[in-house]
Amino acid sequence: MRILVTGGAGYIGSHTCVELLEAGHEVIVADNLCNSRKESLEMVKRITGKDVLFYEVDVTEEQVVEKIFRSHRLDGVIHFAGLKAVGESLEKPLSYYYNNLVSTMILTKMSLKYDVNRFVFSSSATVYGDNTVPFKETMKLLPTTNPYGETKAMSERILMDTVKADQSFGVTLLRYFNPVGAHESGLIGEEPNGAPNNLMPFITQVASGRREKLSIFGNDYDTVDGTGVRDYIHVVDLAKGHVMAVEKLKPGVEIYNLGTGRGTSVLELVHTFMEVNELDVPYEIRERRQGDISSYYADASKARIELGWIAEKTIEDMVRDAWRFEKKQAEGK
Ligand code: NAD
Ligand code: UFG
Repeated sequence: MRILVTGGAGYIGSHTCVELLEAGHEVIVADNLCNSRKESLEMVKRITGKDVLFYEVDVTEEQVVEKIFRSHRLDGVIHFAGLKAVGESLEKPLSYYYNNLVSTMILTKMSLKYDVNRFVFSSSATVYGDNTVPFKETMKLLPTTNPYGETKAMSERILMDTVKADQSFGVTLLRYFNPVGAHESGLIGEEPNGAPNNLMPFITQVASGRREKLSIFGNDYDTVDGTGVRDYIHVVDLAKGHVMAVEKLKPGVEIYNLGTGRGTSVLELVHTFMEVNELDVPYEIRERRQGDISSYYADASKARIELGWIAEKTIEDMVRDAWRFEKKQAEGK
């Protein structure tokens, strides 16, 4: 298949390009590089030995998006492009609503116009809100605590309503839990701009000496050791889930959680990182971070049963691969 991957130069997108190419698909990337670098696509080519056609475009611009749809007979779209920093979304709500919703609407409109019936959307476990665990696709969604989360919930609704009106259109909503790690080559991985918001890139930057100390946000939650619990998933497993989803996509809407089904606490992750990589990560316990939920993880059985997908990599793989990427970054690749 020929797949348009929006946001394909980014963290999850670049790993998905690798898996798509390795599965024999053709990849066209549309990315404005607002949170990524063109070099990641060079790395994708190096890993796979295959070419990627790249358009440096903003997918909120209808005319340029239409030009891509007109120029290539596409079989599917995987829509990763979006802004994703929760804190920033509270400061710049309009940018988040504009970027994340307009992009989804334009890509949906073009998919309908050019008869592209496979649309995979990057959603997030954040749409469940503070629900009972494990999170299951059939649960009633609760409000999220920030504009970023709302853009995911709204994009899901836009896509579901579109399918209601046009039964030949096929949409798969993938709700990611906490993607971490990097490709085992160490050539692509997560490269946050400025101070990382997320736990794993913060750990790797402390380990490499780029930052002094990790702050652990709260140790008084009702969890195994008082720190927050999440379902960390290796980005390569996540990427493989996209290949299976796009290959199996049929008319209608399907929703899948992509997680491991297992929760890991902040302290467990930090200690596993230290043990596996034989490194010290200094940390201190700080107050809870506003808006954080104590604990959540996926019920990942639907993806296993229907897509045949399962997260294969362990927490040890995640911390090893995340550290390998950080080291390569420091060495200049
Ligand atoms: P990322 O920032 O690394 O990748 C997003 C890519 O989209 C970047 O390359 C960026 O330059 C591009 N982009 C943004 N707006 C664009 C626009 N208007 N036009 C063209 N390109 C644009 O983020 P990621 O972690 O790879 O996330 C990919 C998707 O998955 C996002 O939609 C994100 O919200 C979603 N998601 C991520 C996580 C996570 O923890 N990483 C969790 C759940 C969902
Ligand atoms: N944490 C720390 N210190 C840090 C960073 C995080 O203790 O420096 C803790 C958090 O309090 C939380 C856990 O580590 O308990 C994970 O936090 P992350 O920021 O890595 O991830 P979140 O679960 O808060 O959110 C992530 C993405 C969201 C996405 C969500 C989906 O950032 O965009 O996963 O599940 F919506």
